[in-house]
Amino acid sequence: MWNTSYVLVSRPLGLATEANFRREELPLAEPGEGEVLVRIDYISLDPAMRGWMNAGTSYVPGVELGDVMRAFAAGEVISSRHQNWKVGQTVTGLLGVQTYAMVKGELLTAVDTNSAPLSWYLGILGMPGLTAYFGLLDKGNPKPGETVLVSGAAGMVGSLVGQIARIKGCRVAGIAGGEDKCAFLKNELNWDEVINYKSIADLPAALKERLPNGIDIFFDNVGGNILDAALTNLARGCRIIICGAISQYNQLTTQGPSNYMKIVTARGTLTGVIVLDYFDKAAEALNDLSRWLREGKIIYNEHIIPGIDQFPFALNLLFSGGNTGKLLLQNKFE
Ligand SMILES: NC(=O)c1ccc[n+]([C@@H]2O[C@H](COP(=O)([O-])OP(=O)(O)OC[C@H]3O[C@@H](n4cnc5c(N)ncnc54)[C@H](OP(=O)(O)O)[C@@H]3O)[C@@H](O)[C@H]2O)c1
Repeated sequence: MWNTSYVLVSRPLGLATEANFRREELPLAEPGEGEVLVRIDYISLDPAMRGWMNAGTSYVPGVELGDVMRAFAAGEVISSRHQNWKVGQTVTGLLGVQTYAMVKGELLTAVDTNSAPLSWYLGILGMPGLTAYFGLLDKGNPKPGETVLVSGAAGMVGSLVGQIARIKGCRVAGIAGGEDKCAFLKNELNWDEVINYKSIADLPAALKERLPNGIDIFFDNVGGNILDAALTNLARGCRIIICGAISQYNQLTTQGPSNYMKIVTARGTLTGVIVLDYFDKAAEALNDLSRWLREGKIIYNEHIIPGIDQFPFALNLLFSGGNTGKLLLQNKFE
């Protein structure tokens, strides 16, 4: 058996291209003591992967040149020399952009595919789901009747944040790119207000008109001009949660908010969230998210691209808005 992997060989300037990776085909070895061999069925494509391609450390160190590209992934144990793992168990972990992973048993997490499809543990029941849940509830502390604005609203994290905010009794508004994404938020998720940032000339004016009482919680996935626009319409005591800034990840110089003094006027707070800080509390979130899914209170969509050879093209869909729902690569096995 052979493993196919994507190895980072140079650091992108702007969007990642195929030239930044070497596709490697290597024969699979047998696990050593304490190791587990996993067949990877799904690879999670996350905006953070673009940051991990840069040199240096942000909240985690960047991927070293010559290493397999880091990615969350899910699959099945096919060989094990670790006491906790048996052949046939389904697992997730940072398994990389490859078809098989040889890892230390301690680095794997068991997942139950009787209660949800394997791929969901990379999305709503995985890292992005925890981000939405704790980012909104722990950092935002939403109260019934408050106005919550979400950017990147039709994406994985954004669409879940808005749905949780609705469950908590908030009035929810979303900013997304394109008529179809806005129609999904308005008609299927029943959000109160949606704004297509790609077709609106004056976003601050639109926010003032649609959200006349101001924004109590702004959950920002995008940064740049959208963050600046939201800052012009804050309610007193607002909470601004910086989850990401996807508009900036491929820029050589990044744009900070020029309207930040509006936070002072509003007596607001601006805070960042990193999901890693919540992994030890995951069970609490997974209980709620699973229940809301069962009760039909949350709609969850995936966007699955078949074939590892679609990397890195598929990753870049995140930056063009080409994904509708949680973006995943699915490995194909003969
Ligand atoms: N802090 C943490 O621990 C943590 C953890 C997970 C994710 N995140 C962050 O959460 C955000 C969302 O991640 P996700 O996995 O849920 O991705 P996603 O929202 O499913 O996909 C990314 C979406 O971002 C939008 N976008 C891309 N470039 C844009 C631009 N220049 N301006 C405006 N919108 C743009 C696109 O939607 P449109 O079609 O609407 O433009 C695209 O579909 C990212 O910023 C990510 O880094 C943070």
